[in-house]
Amino acid sequence: MPYLTTHKALRAWYRRYGRRDLPWRTTADPYAIYVSEIMLQQTQVRTVLERYYGPFLARFPTLSALASAPSEDVLKQWEGLGYYNRARYLHETAKRVAPTLPMDIAALTALPGIGRNTAHAIAAFAYHQPVAVMEANVKRVLHRVFALEQASEKTLWEKAGALLDAKHPFEYNQAMMDIGALVCTKTAPRCDSCPLATICKGKRRPLAYPAPKKKARTPVRRRNILVFTDAAGRCYLTARAGRFLHGVYGFPEYDGDIPSVAFEKHHYHLADMEYLGEVAQTYSHFRLEAGVYRMLLPGRRNAPEWKSLQEIESLPLSRADAKVLRLLLNA
Ligand code: ADE
Repeated sequence: MPYLTTHKALRAWYRRYGRRDLPWRTTADPYAIYVSEIMLQQTQVRTVLERYYGPFLARFPTLSALASAPSEDVLKQWEGLGYYNRARYLHETAKRVAPTLPMDIAALTALPGIGRNTAHAIAAFAYHQPVAVMEANVKRVLHRVFALEQASEKTLWEKAGALLDAKHPFEYNQAMMDIGALVCTKTAPRCDSCPLATICKGKRRPLAYPAPKKKARTPVRRRNILVFTDAAGRCYLTARAGRFLHGVYGFPEYDGDIPSVAFEKHHYHLADMEYLGEVAQTYSHFRLEAGVYRMLLPGRRNAPEWKSLQEIESLPLSRADAKVLRLLLNA
């Protein structure tokens, strides 16, 4: 046990400064822990805590409740959290394994949306198994503790496993995440209050580990979003079918430099439409900037793609389309 003293210091630190009251740390329910880990994969603790974790569990209190819910309800509950594949996989996994989540790491990683880190988190937090968690904060801590400029996943897993306190996996892993979030921060690490300082090889130059990367600028996609409205005030929108935002509803979207579009066998010029304003939304791999136009069409439509604003409010919408809806409600 080479890290005995460090483990002790880490536990003492966690008991005194750790975020021990986070709701997914005070529950023993593997399902609730699983939901939190999926939400936290790509979203900050604060957002998950303030707006999503509680309401999601209130709406789907068990794995079985989630499994039997319509997918549109699951997406609606996820609305605004982004990376909607997470919600689809969560639902898919619930349908496969309800009423109980497996305990075994190999069985967990075989499920949709559960990678090694999430499987380890569930195993360590719900079942107290001796495995290391390695989310973004922990990766930074490991880079610094072992003075690594840019380590591979393989190296990081080795280091994570070597440093693990196998006797106290719950506290150890929660503590490592909290050290990353509160002490070993990206730009202003506070090494003098760090319980890992005694073993930290990077503490003389913490900002060198990991070596800073040059950021590629996110590309801007210029689009126009067109709202076709019938005489009864119903608007045309459909659920997306591709990989991106699958199942999430949206108004028709076109390249920003196309002056006219075909719709219901007619051509419509943007110049003839009512301009409602702009919406912008930054996604992981691009920034959407779109003009929003409305075209009022004569007659009434009865096809299911035509919905009242009230109906649209209850559908899962992308963030950009939710902004379009707000423009429509204010128009
Ligand atoms: N990110 C991933 N899992 C977490 C947890 N259990 N607590 C805080 N942040 C996390």
